[in-house]
Amino acid sequence: MSSFQPGIFDKRFRDQVFLEYLMEDSDKARQTVKALLTLRAQYQDNAVITVAFGPALWRQLDGQVDFEAFSLDGRVPATQADLLVWVQAADRSHAFDVARAAHLTVSQAFRQQLEIDAFVYHDLRDLTGFVDGIGNPVGDKARLAALVPDGQPGAGGSFVLTQKWVHNLAAFEQLPVSEQENVFGRTKADAVEFDEERMPNDSHVGRTDVDRDGVPQKIWRRSVPYGGTLEHGSYFVAFCCEQSRLDYLLRRMFALNDDKVQDRLTQFSTPVNSSYWYAPPEEALAAM
Ligand code: HEM
Repeated sequence: MSSFQPGIFDKRFRDQVFLEYLMEDSDKARQTVKALLTLRAQYQDNAVITVAFGPALWRQLDGQVDFEAFSLDGRVPATQADLLVWVQAADRSHAFDVARAAHLTVSQAFRQQLEIDAFVYHDLRDLTGFVDGIGNPVGDKARLAALVPDGQPGAGGSFVLTQKWVHNLAAFEQLPVSEQENVFGRTKADAVEFDEERMPNDSHVGRTDVDRDGVPQKIWRRSVPYGGTLEHGSYFVAFCCEQSRLDYLLRRMFALNDDKVQDRLTQFSTPVNSSYWYAPPEEALAAM
């Protein structure tokens, strides 16, 4: 059995940095990623680094797992990149130190496309004030949702979707709390999910709590808020045992499925950046 990267499930750390890179020098890509993995081991007392690869780079490095670059029929900007570095650290100082060391290493072969300085907000809330992640599967079910099962290409790894969403909090906060709750399908203060009769079909949970061919479309979400007073939002991060499940959920949110209902959340937040990645298991990283 292969071992997943521990950062996927490790929720100890509140200070986080996400770095996205485009490959510039493909001859140096492998040795640069190996240097990043060495650095990951050096900093393991104060930080956990998770690495994931875009489809083109992973094809070059491994060739065993095929998956698609991000696309949603042009509905949201597709900004597929090649390398994702996710630093979770004990405090902001360590997050900075580790992210900077990772950046200096990675820059030998890659150009940075995006940097997100993220933080856990209050009691695991999104900046809208709603608890985010509470509906995640728990224990074995989390692993089943997040990891490619044994016997399949990429077993022990995980398909990842990341999206930078920019919130319009001013518009959202104009709604009375009862309407804000209708946007999400949960209560705001104590995060209780609406029952079936009360759940609006266009609410966020109404769009994303769904079965496909009898299979619940569960994913493992690790989204984190980012930003300051002028621009702020959520860096959506989700791990999944199959890429198509992530696409299925996005299609339901953006009215690209049969019932053509758009998630009301998209009136108040907009994705400006999206990529798919594969986060290989430790054995695949060690074999590089
Ligand atoms: C601005 C972006 C987003 C925000 C602020 C957000 C926030 C939330 C909140 C507050 C909940 C309810 C609490 C919970 O279950 O954790 C939730 C549930 C969920 N969200 Fe999102 N979300 C965002 C984007 C997305 C995207 C892009 C997807 C899928 C591709 C997604 C998938 C889900 C799923 C699967 C659930 C759980 C549904 C269930 O109860 O089974 N979310 N989200």
